[in-house]
Amino acid sequence: MQRRFKLVVACSALASSAIAQRRELAEVWRDPYCGCCGGWVDHLRAEGFAVTDRVVPSVAPFRRMLGTPADLLSCHAARAAGWLAIEGHVPGMAIRRALAERPAGIVGLAVPEMPIGTPGMEVPGRAPDTYDVIAWRADGSRAPWLRMRGALPV
Ligand code: CU
Ligand code: CU
Repeated sequence: MQRRFKLVVACSALASSAIAQRRELAEVWRDPYCGCCGGWVDHLRAEGFAVTDRVVPSVAPFRRMLGTPADLLSCHAARAAGWLAIEGHVPGMAIRRALAERPAGIVGLAVPEMPIGTPGMEVPGRAPDTYDVIAWRADGSRAPWLRMRGALPV
């Protein structure tokens, strides 16, 4: 009995370290003329995401594929872990948290427009804006999910 308990502990420790080291996948679609989109890709990579960076003539068809609500637009589109749609400069920690927690019914995260200080939108000498990461559901309903400043929750 004692021995069996030790084995279980060892296995769960291995499993949790495997989860910590797993690199989440992110596919990004962006147009070639936007430097801040490249900055966001760099941020995702620094956060440990394995990014497939697709520079495309138009992002619009990919937004349609992802079901991104038209009023939440920013400058680039992405998909994390094969299912979570992303629009704009959403910080890596917010994506990781949504993938881990899977808040009820959520299929996408957006930071509409381009707040100053979001990852890829840092402006030297300017304080970062406070902004909300908006979460949306498949039926198009949406709500502010996480209030952030820069790359971190407020
Ligand atoms: Cu941008
Ligand atoms: Cu962008």
